[in-house]
Amino acid sequence: MQARSLLEARSKGAAHCEASADLGCTTTEADLNDGGVTFAGGTQAAWAALEHIAADDNGCYEVRGTDTTRIQHMSQLSGRLASLYPTAGPPALLLSGTLMHRIKGIHPGQDTQRKLQPLGRLASTRVLDTATGLGYTAIEAASAGARVVTVEWDPAVVDVEHRNPWSAALFTDDAIDRRQGDIAEVIESFEEAAFDHILHDPPVLELAGDLYGVTFYHQLRRVLAPRGRLFHYVGNLDSPSGLRVSRGVVRRLEEAGFQDVRLQPDAFGISARA
Ligand SMILES: C[S@@+](CC[C@H](N)C(=O)[O-])C[C@H]1O[C@@H](n2cnc3c(N)ncnc32)[C@H](O)[C@@H]1O
Repeated sequence: MQARSLLEARSKGAAHCEASADLGCTTTEADLNDGGVTFAGGTQAAWAALEHIAADDNGCYEVRGTDTTRIQHMSQLSGRLASLYPTAGPPALLLSGTLMHRIKGIHPGQDTQRKLQPLGRLASTRVLDTATGLGYTAIEAASAGARVVTVEWDPAVVDVEHRNPWSAALFTDDAIDRRQGDIAEVIESFEEAAFDHILHDPPVLELAGDLYGVTFYHQLRRVLAPRGRLFHYVGNLDSPSGLRVSRGVVRRLEEAGFQDVRLQPDAFGISARA
């Protein structure tokens, strides 16, 4: 819910406005009255609840009347807090203070487009999305006509997916096959050359070292079809850490047998071919 724009509309004395009751996913007509806001679908939010939300720059909330609930889950598996972080577009995923999407000068929706662009045409292809997160890359690939297998390790992230309106297609789109587990293990169950493209978007190296290792890259290479494409998100290639990590990634991808390994600075990652 876009609390600040509703509070602003009230301060201007508006009786109605266009607003979103689902974190900006859709907009609808809202009535502004003394107690709060009533959306076209009947959802209500009290002014006190909206003021509480507007005071938090770093969280997204569910609202029922005067009750607000921050969208966050503590992971029993990793001990990390998984939460939604508001942006100018779809919310980002925050894992214990580390953002899983780009938000500086770009929002997660645009970030998703850039990650998929190096893979080329997706219609009628089989895509492996190694780390579901909020499902944005999986959903976008499926909407471009791919059949997608996507794997998420952390149950707390899956809980957040369920509460994020922008992740809804993960649970409704038949072209998306969701798996829960560690991709380093799950990948062993896939046949050789099972995928035409792989989108590898792991957490930063410090949080998921195995997913940057040559053993895992051999598995990526094994399940990728001849001439198939890989995009590996790494982070800002112009930053000292991005530069350092990307050098190691390029070397290990080549060691695992990938061809045509190229830096993709706009997409903050590295592309390669089987
Ligand atoms: C950068 S996010 C992926 C973002 C995703 N591409 C999207 O569009 O929202 C990385 C995700 O990998 C998950 N993850 C971490 N280790 C993993 C593993 N071993 N196997 C599968 N997923 C893992 C994290 O919980 C996190 O949700």
